[in-house]
Amino acid sequence: MRTQVVIIGAGPAGLLLGQLLHKHGVANVILERQTADHVLGRVRAGVIERVTMDLLDEAGVGARMHADGLVHEGVQICVDGKRHRLSFKDLTGKTVTVYGQTEITKDLMDGRAAVGAATVYSAADVILQDFSGDNPRVSYRAGGKTHEIGCDFIAGCDGFHGISRKSIPASAISTFERVYPIGWLGVLSDTPPVSEELIYVRHPRGFALCSMRTPTRSRYYLQCSLAEEIESWPDERFWEELKPRLDDEARDRLVTGPSIEKSIAPLRSFVAEPMRFGRLFLAGDASHIVPPTGAKGLNLAASDVRYLSRALIEHYQERSDAGIDHYSARALARVWKAERFSWWMTMTLHRISDNPFDHRLQLAELDYLFGSKAAATAFAENYVGLPY
Ligand code: FAD
Ligand code: DHB
Repeated sequence: MRTQVVIIGAGPAGLLLGQLLHKHGVANVILERQTADHVLGRVRAGVIERVTMDLLDEAGVGARMHADGLVHEGVQICVDGKRHRLSFKDLTGKTVTVYGQTEITKDLMDGRAAVGAATVYSAADVILQDFSGDNPRVSYRAGGKTHEIGCDFIAGCDGFHGISRKSIPASAISTFERVYPIGWLGVLSDTPPVSEELIYVRHPRGFALCSMRTPTRSRYYLQCSLAEEIESWPDERFWEELKPRLDDEARDRLVTGPSIEKSIAPLRSFVAEPMRFGRLFLAGDASHIVPPTGAKGLNLAASDVRYLSRALIEHYQERSDAGIDHYSARALARVWKAERFSWWMTMTLHRISDNPFDHRLQLAELDYLFGSKAAATAFAENYVGLPY
């Protein structure tokens, strides 16, 4: 079998790339290790930037997002019981939209099924071959047989634990990493959100986030230790730990209920450079991870895909490799700015150190943010997404 681009991974990066390439006549096959249901069952990101929405529109899958997504003009930050509001709309003229990653993934899967493009789910033992030369191939096992696909390019969209990055010789790739000694314990529940806007909470007991998916479905996160086990967090304990971290108004409005999903995610910053090795490109979590504070992970995956899809389309339609040659540098310039912002938000809002000096610095950062229009504008500009 032969195609133009083999895409490894059917997360948001792989599915979006596949859809954009297909629209421009570039043939592609997606190989995904998990089942479609498993991919759809992962509750992850919730906030999307305008530029990500534009890309989903360009891919022809934006209708439900426009109908059901919640437009947010600002965000609230609660510091030790007192809430402050930052208006993106006033500071930048832009907004963000709350629309879950599971919904985006579903829209992309439906879009792909509608155009009849090939996705192989439950593809085991994916192996990338000869991508430093001119004839890359990818083999995998499915239905008890081994298959092989020859292609022009391979797009590694297989997330942090995928095989693509690991297939590049260690001498050809540099990695940069910070692991934080904390995690986020997340709960999804069919209860109305405490506020119409997200509330990021800095509290001596640790960070919390009040988010949502719809007007009747809330998403909450609590900073927790990495040693925590999910079994030790029955719903009742989660709500009892959330309450003291909230301000009085939010605590009064909090409606608790059974969780419909609960998970712990470790916090990590990671970048692998470059994002291209021969005919293999990395995109999304396969090449970089941000801690979730600031909701940049999915948006960065989309911005990589924007650069990569344009580069590949240019290769086929205009016979120019300029986009391909610049892909890594262009994508990394945006990646590092999002790494900086996510690191800053994480360090400013979590209880990471026990040194009172660090706590005072956090309070000074936040006081400056709330008191200076320049600081607030810089925050808002990053939160709504930097331009491409
Ligand atoms: P992924 O979504 O990871 O998709 C990669 C796909 O590749 C997966 O479907 C995987 O099964 C597949 N795959 C892996 N290995 C192979 C293989 N060998 N062969 C074939 N397929 C393979 N971001 C936010 O902005 N806000 C959040 O709240 C948030 N929460 C998160 C919580 C968790 C637990 C995690 C892990 C991430 C979270 N993120 C969040 C980040 C965001 O979800 C990711 O940045 C986004 O999913 C990246 O998309 P992706 O397509 O690059 O990778
Ligand atoms: C959500 C996750 C984030 O990391 C964030 O900064 C905002 C919202 C969410 O899952 O809703």
